[in-house]
Amino acid sequence: TGAFTFDPGFTSTAACESALTYIDGDEGVLLHRGYSIEELSEQSSFMEVAYLLTEGELPSREQLEKFTYTITRHTMVHEQLAQFFRGFRRDAHPMAIMCGVVGALSAFYHDSTDINDPKQREIASHRLIAKMPTIAAMAYKYSVGQPFMYPDNSLSYTGNFLRMTFGVPAEPYVVNPVVERALDRIFILHADHEQNASTSTVRLAGSSGANPFACIAAGIACLWGPAHGGANEAALNMLREIGTPDRIAHYIERAKDKNDPFRLMGFGHRVYKNYDPRATVMQKTVREVLTALNVNDPIFEVALQLEEMALSDSYFIEKKLFPNVDFYSGIILSAIGFPTSMFTALFALARTVGWIAQWIEMISDPEQKIGRPRQLYTGPAMRPYVPLSAR
Ligand code: CMC
Repeated sequence: TGAFTFDPGFTSTAACESALTYIDGDEGVLLHRGYSIEELSEQSSFMEVAYLLTEGELPSREQLEKFTYTITRHTMVHEQLAQFFRGFRRDAHPMAIMCGVVGALSAFYHDSTDINDPKQREIASHRLIAKMPTIAAMAYKYSVGQPFMYPDNSLSYTGNFLRMTFGVPAEPYVVNPVVERALDRIFILHADHEQNASTSTVRLAGSSGANPFACIAAGIACLWGPAHGGANEAALNMLREIGTPDRIAHYIERAKDKNDPFRLMGFGHRVYKNYDPRATVMQKTVREVLTALNVNDPIFEVALQLEEMALSDSYFIEKKLFPNVDFYSGIILSAIGFPTSMFTALFALARTVGWIAQWIEMISDPEQKIGRPRQLYTGPAMRPYVPLSAR
C-alpha cells in the first residue's frame, strides 16, 4: 500500500483520541466518561448525561440546576426560522427538514460561529442541545398541519419535547410520566457512541474550522442513512412487513442469502460482536411502556421471536450478529405515537449531545489538524489529451 495504510471503512484506524466514550465490542460494554450505560439509563437523566459528556463529570445538584436552566433559556427558535419550515413540502421527510433547518441556524447566530472563543463554543453547544427538540417537534407539527407549539420551560427537557410534539394550543397537555421517563432513557441510550459515521463526519467537518451548526447539520445528513440512524425506521418497517411469527423464517432465510440485498435491520454492528448493551435496556423499556400504555402491539412478539430464531441460527452466530440499539426502539416510539419518519429525527436530537461534546473536544485540542485522508489512486496513468475532433 505504498506510503499509506489502506483501510477502507476505517475498520482498524483510530482517527482521534477521545475521553468521552469507551466501547468493548467483544464484551458488550459501553461507558460514558467511565459510567456504564446500564447505570446511566437506570439512574440518571438525559440532562445529566448531556452535562457529563460536555463538561466531563457528573454535575452536583447545583450544577445540574444551572445547566438545565441555561438549556431551558435557549429552547425557543428565532421567529424567522419558523418561516423557513413553510418553504418545505408538507410530506418532506423530517430528516430532510432537520438537515436544512439546523444548518440554517448559523445564519441566525453569528456570534456562535466564532469557534476560537471557548465561551462562544459553549453558547453554541447550549443552543444546539436546547433547540433540537423544538426543531424536531416543529418538523412533526408541520407534517401534520398543526400549529407550532412554543416551549413550556416549566417542563423537563423531555416533557417539553413531548408537549411540543403532541400538544395543541386548544387544550392543556398532560405529560405521562412513564412515557417521559422512557423517552428520556431512549435519549440517554443514543447520546454518544464514539467514532461512528455521523460523529466522524462532525469531526471531519469541524476540523476545517466550519461553524458548529454546519457541522451538526453534516452529522444529521450522515445519520439519516439506513445503515446508521435510519435503521430504527427501517427495523420497524421490517417488523411490520413480517407481521406475524409464521413469516419470520422466510425473512431470516432472505437475510442469509448472498444474492438478496435484504438484511435484518436492527441487527449487526461494526464494533459490537456481542449483544449491544443498549438493546438490552431497550427491550426492558418496551415492556414497561407497552404495559403502562396498555398497548398490545403484536410486532413486539414478532421482534422477540425473530431475535430468538436469529440468535440460534449458525449464520448469525458465526458472524456475531446481535440486535443493536435500533431493533427495539421503534416499538416504543410507535407506542408513544411517533410516526416512523420521526424516529431518526429523535436519534439526531439525542446524538446532538455526543456530536457537540466530540466537536468541543476536537476543537479544544491544540494538536488538532484538518482531517485529510489519503487515497490509493486506481485511475489511468498520465496520457496525452485527445482533441474532440479526433475522438
Ligand atoms: N443481516 C444479515 N447479514 C448481515 C447483517 C444483517 N443485519 N449485518 C451484517 N451482515 C453480514 C454481512 O452480509 C457480512 O457477511 P459476509 O462477511 O459474508 O460478507 C458480515 O455480516 C459483516 O457485515 P459487514 O457489512 O461487512 O459489517 P459492517 O461492520 O461493515 O456493517 C452494519 C455493520 C451495522 C452496517 C451492518 O451490520 C448492517 O447493515 N446492519 C443492518 C443495519 C443496522 O441495523 N444498522 C444500525 C447499526 S447500530 C446504530 C447506528 O449505528 O446508527
